[in-house]
Amino acid sequence: MPGSGLRGTLGSNRPGIVPEIEITRHIPEGERTLPADVRDGLTAEPKAIPPKHFYDRVGSELFERITRLPEYYPTRAEREILETRGPEIASLCPATELFELGSGSAEKALLLVEPMLTAGELRAYTAVDVSESALVGSLEEMVTTHPELTVEGHVADMTRHLGELPPPEGPRTVALLGGTIGNFSPSARVELLRAMGELAGPDGRLLIGCDLIKDPEVLVAAYDDSEGVTAMFNLNLLAIINRELGADFDLADFEHIARWNPDEEWIEMRLRARRDLTVTISELDLTVGFREGEELLTETSAKFTHERIAAELTEGGLEVTGLLTDSTDRFALVIAEPTGA
Ligand code: AVJ
Repeated sequence: MPGSGLRGTLGSNRPGIVPEIEITRHIPEGERTLPADVRDGLTAEPKAIPPKHFYDRVGSELFERITRLPEYYPTRAEREILETRGPEIASLCPATELFELGSGSAEKALLLVEPMLTAGELRAYTAVDVSESALVGSLEEMVTTHPELTVEGHVADMTRHLGELPPPEGPRTVALLGGTIGNFSPSARVELLRAMGELAGPDGRLLIGCDLIKDPEVLVAAYDDSEGVTAMFNLNLLAIINRELGADFDLADFEHIARWNPDEEWIEMRLRARRDLTVTISELDLTVGFREGEELLTETSAKFTHERIAAELTEGGLEVTGLLTDSTDRFALVIAEPTGA
């Protein structure tokens, strides 16, 4: 139901330069999912915490550093496709509205919007993200660069709130870039794809960034870089739990692990206890033991074959209508349409 969230217009800090940006909240102010996720995750066997909690200010900065690492190819490979195949993407995604889920920084959105504007039809850009500060930053950049676009933001969780977003007023493309689709479980992916198809509408398109299966050594290096930035990113989750929930994790007690799981076809990131230890999470009144060598699963990042992409889209009521890869076939931008099934 659109409008069920709190609606507000953000005052600009540069009056006269940045037009009004409408932001709608679907996540109630002050709602926290971390306490329940940490309680469930640390009392489960095996222990696991969902990756969406990585992205506090430090985590987002570390992720930005990851995207610039020599080993972390997905960002560059996706950017190469956006930079070199813009007109093709725009013709495969004829749209008056572009919705971007988990938008983060405006960089990729700008690369996408420009060929879509050149193709002639694009009028509106809508960003959907759990972080209000990320939304405001990228929307200000978008509207400053392209004042002809109507921009709006939705503070929303793509797994819960897509049904609350406004229905299309014209052909709509819904984008999920960066390989984020791979961070969901296979069943959650199909659900998300179906919800994205509904958000796009019968005349809409989906544009999805998918990392492709390749040499496991290359995959593992992308998640276990030589500078240790990904290790810091992973360990920062424990610092977040310490700060937010009054826990007493000693980060030095845990080792960053990145492993290719050939059966599931995903990279797993884990934190492995270096010794037997106990952790107290005071805000949860919870004490948890780790055995030496015990691992906490913090992220899975699935990698795809072209066949699996097509099969999962079919399951989600969609059909592949375009698949563009970078010059070395490391990453794919997939275009799909709802089939009505
Ligand atoms: C951009 C969120 C998809 O899984 O590759 C990067 C996150 N984790 N390094 C990914 C991530 C470790 C990333 N996503």
